[in-house]
Order: sequence, then C-alpha cells, then structure tokens
Amino acid sequence: MAVTPSSTRTALIAGNWKMNLDHLQSIAFVQKLAWSLKDARHDFAGVEVAIFPPFTDLRSVQTLIKADDLPLAFGGQDLSQHDSGAYTGEISGAFLAALDAKYVIIGHSERRQYHGESDELIAGKVAAAHRHGLVPIVCVGETAEDLEQHGPSAVPVAQLRVALEGAVKGKEVVVAYEPVWAIGSGQAATSEQAQQVCAALRGVITEALGADAGHATRILYGGSVKASNIAGFMRETDIDGALVGGASLQLEEFASIAQYRKHVGT
Ligand code: PGA
Repeated sequence: MAVTPSSTRTALIAGNWKMNLDHLQSIAFVQKLAWSLKDARHDFAGVEVAIFPPFTDLRSVQTLIKADDLPLAFGGQDLSQHDSGAYTGEISGAFLAALDAKYVIIGHSERRQYHGESDELIAGKVAAAHRHGLVPIVCVGETAEDLEQHGPSAVPVAQLRVALEGAVKGKEVVVAYEPVWAIGSGQAATSEQAQQVCAALRGVITEALGADAGHATRILYGGSVKASNIAGFMRETDIDGALVGGASLQLEEFASIAQYRKHVGT
C-alpha cells in the first residue's frame, strides 16, 4: 500500500458525548470501552481514542483512567476564554488542566449556533487552551445554506483563519471539519468532499503556523461518522481521524469505529 503523508500522523478517534451520560453512567461506559478495545487488541499507539464527557463527569473519568491505567485520553467540550473571575457557569482551562484533560473541543457548531460563539471568541478560546497546556480541537464547518452559496471550503477556511489567530506557534492544534448539515443528520459528507475541504484546511494551517505544523497537524472529519463509513474517510490523505457524536454513545459502534483499520485490512 502506498505510504501517504497521513501515515506519519497518529490517528485520533474522538467521542463527543455532548449532553449525555452522567458521572455514574460515564464510569460504566469508560470501563466497558477500555475492556472492549483491549479485548480487540487495539493499537492505542497507532490510533488514539479520546472521549469528551460533560464537565460534571470529568473528575470521575480522570480518577478511573488513572486508577486503572486505561490508555484513553479525555477532554472538555468547551472552555472559557478567561482564566478566572466573575464568569458564572464558565469553566477555566486551568481547571481542565488540573484534571489532566489533554484536549478541549472549541467552536463546535452547537456552541456557535446555540451560544452565539463568534470566530473571534473561538480564537480567544484557542489562546486560553494553549495558555493552559491543552490541545484545542478547533471545529469548523459550513451550513447547508453556506454550501449552496459558497461551496464547501470557503466558510470553514475563513473560520479557521480567524480561530488560528489565537494559536501559539509550535503548540499542538487539532482541526475538526464538521459540515453542519452532516451533524446528527445521518447524511455524512462523501469522503472525496471531506478530503477536498481538509486539504484546503491544511493549507490554512501551513499559512498560519508554518510548514511543520501544516504537516504535523491532525485534521478530523465529523458529521454522521459510523462504523460503516469511517474506513472511507480514513483512506483520504488529509483526514487523520474523526470527531464522533451520536455513534460515540454506542459502545460497540464506537469501538468498531476506533478499530477501522480492521475494516480496511491495513
Ligand atoms: P454526529 O455528531 O456524529 O452525531 O453527527 C458529530 C459532532 O457533532 O461532533
């Protein structure tokens, strides 16, 4: 099989639980997920698996992962652009870092849509993540209307340009391309279309953060990812993983997504 540039980047399968599973349910789920992947002899070094539970679960998840030495990463679904102070309901990156969170999702389309998050705010959150040693997973993507008016790349490219203004050169960023029309709709993008946009996003990363970052940065596809379509995305040169919503709450399905290499026989 041809060696593609993506083969030098560690794949990342990330499960965004959104507002599902309380702290007790999260413990049961994480335990079963770890068992299921270990049973399947999952290559954790080659395909990193991360989960993004609600904030109230994070302490329980951290304690379990640490106590049982589970090879799973975790992170928050959002963070504040501020570090501390009078911001009721907000969560500081310092608190996420204190719980050993590795990642934080920033600018998910549900935050943009329901909480009015602007590209500038998202850039501020990327800066906050880097201040606290967290790896931001920066989400970008076009709506169905954007797609009709501007094609697939223009909006995510513009969103990413602004978001990366908050990034510190030399610090890790992950980018997630999530077409809004594909999220939770059951209608994923085609792998060809996703690849086209992810290649454009890699160009933006190179422009903003330099050639090394352009090469090293992992770009995920998200939007109705399932066990039956993950392999097609992972075959694409510029797609290094997936941000999975609904299917990340189904244990067997999520484990099977993480095991995508078995689907393609590589
Ligand atoms: P979905 O969600 O997999 O349910 O489409 C993806 C996401 O919102 O990150």
